[in-house]
Amino acid sequence: MISCWKDPKPIMRHPFFLLAAFVLSCTACSQAPVVTGTWDVIPKPKEVRLAPDAAPFVLGKDSRIFYEGDSLGTAARLLAADLKQATGIAFKTATLPVAKTVKAPAIHLSVDPAVGENLSVTKKDGAYRLEASSEAVRITGATVQGVLNGCHTLCKALPLIDKGKNIPALPAATIRDWPYFGYRGFMLDVSRHFFDAATVKEVIDILALHNLNVFHWHLTDDQGWRIPIDAWPELTKKGSWRAGTPFEATPEDGEHHDGVPVSGCYTKDEIREVVRYAADHGITVIPEIDLPGHMMAALASYPELGCTGGPYEVATRYGVLDDVLCAGKESTLTFIKTVLEEVMDLFPSEYIHLGGDECPKVRWEQCPDCQAKIRELGLTDADGKSKENRLQSWLMDRAAEILAARGRKMIAWNDVLCDWSDSICGTPDPEGTIIAGWMRPSSTRIAAQAGYRAVFCPCGYLYFSAREFNALPVQEALERVYDMPSLFDGLTEAEADRILGMQACIWAERVADRDDLEWKLLPRLAALAELSWTGPFGRDKKDFLERLDRLEEVYEARNWNWRKE
Ligand code: ACM
Ligand code: ZN
Repeated sequence: MISCWKDPKPIMRHPFFLLAAFVLSCTACSQAPVVTGTWDVIPKPKEVRLAPDAAPFVLGKDSRIFYEGDSLGTAARLLAADLKQATGIAFKTATLPVAKTVKAPAIHLSVDPAVGENLSVTKKDGAYRLEASSEAVRITGATVQGVLNGCHTLCKALPLIDKGKNIPALPAATIRDWPYFGYRGFMLDVSRHFFDAATVKEVIDILALHNLNVFHWHLTDDQGWRIPIDAWPELTKKGSWRAGTPFEATPEDGEHHDGVPVSGCYTKDEIREVVRYAADHGITVIPEIDLPGHMMAALASYPELGCTGGPYEVATRYGVLDDVLCAGKESTLTFIKTVLEEVMDLFPSEYIHLGGDECPKVRWEQCPDCQAKIRELGLTDADGKSKENRLQSWLMDRAAEILAARGRKMIAWNDVLCDWSDSICGTPDPEGTIIAGWMRPSSTRIAAQAGYRAVFCPCGYLYFSAREFNALPVQEALERVYDMPSLFDGLTEAEADRILGMQACIWAERVADRDDLEWKLLPRLAALAELSWTGPFGRDKKDFLERLDRLEEVYEARNWNWRKE
């Protein structure tokens, strides 16, 4: 078996280091002053009613976390771990004692479907009520997800300065909160740069703190195949290696790679562990197998999947490459089916991302198998769409059917509607397809107008890896996200309702390592979190930036490499 590269664990993140810091910092606890935090967090809660005359909730050594029902045991343990990390206090967790008075101030977690009763299902899922008094903090979620969101709000509200020298407290208040969008996501490309499972789990920690609920894992591309498929073992034996990495990330410069072989792939157990870890944090993992373009790693592993039969190499340049899966051969459908069956075995998500972007048609135009399939299907050039474009629509529909047979739905980039243009001339089934609009802000709106549910991820605003974006000073880069154009311009209410949410993306061509990844994510992810949670209305940048100062203290406390300049 091929061994995969692993990111060394920085000493600062080592549990022993954190434990030592905790022990040292606790020596001063006894005579410490009480410092009260603030509910001015990101994303901004919908309703915060302060009780200024009431005493705050003080977190002490005797504090407990009580939870009602087994489904909240994990949430309680995660909260205890976060509180310990933030305050140094080791909370004990226990199921809620029935008909018993609890003496010490306690945090209570429970689920009550009546919370957010009048909300639509997707908003209700994340809804919670938080009541803080001198005796208790009660977090009641409409679902477990809602409880987790309430816990994040609590953690972000804590005072963080001089941990261990102060006694932390929270102002008495009642909070009612729920998300605007049901899909609040982030995509990470692990093909151009392989990030190990530990790094992926840290990304999930970061998403959770921001109340995001979707991790889109871009697992395959021209530069490396990262997910093992038992039926096609060469995909990771061969397809996870490449001979070098381009110095520069343009197609022109890309021929000059560094000549250093790199590899990386997950085991199935690691993938299951990431899926479980994400679920514990209220996050759904949506895997992406990018079809039928961006397939060089698969073609290098199984050349018979291409139109010419190769030879092919896992790409050592970036950009859009001409060699793609052959749409004309029956064996391609067998490949897609067996891959997707194993993917669905690993990922329980309702949605599976099938890419569909940037698929040149030059090979299909010359390929006898593809042309024979076009004739068999009776496809013709029409409505501004070539017969090869239509062949792609046909192939994506077949892949979507494989998902539908197991009750799953396809997400695909907006290219599937009509390749390079924004006009609708594709045929994916609107019921079974979600469109991720990446090319322009209008891509998502056009999909919604055509009856598709859609996710807003325009590259000009939400591609956190974009070079021109990262060249901006941090404030401007952040404002580009926060001030992005309205999502809903020109849409009717019914069309606007089809926009499920928003997603930021990091393509990893120019991501050096984990620190660089965090630098590109933070603090812009806070702007995405705010807009996707509160809805892109009534923005108040001054207020947002003030709350961001506090959130950055949380980043600092968690040793995340946020962009500071
Ligand atoms: C994409 O950026 N090709 C989805
Ligand atoms: Zn072909």
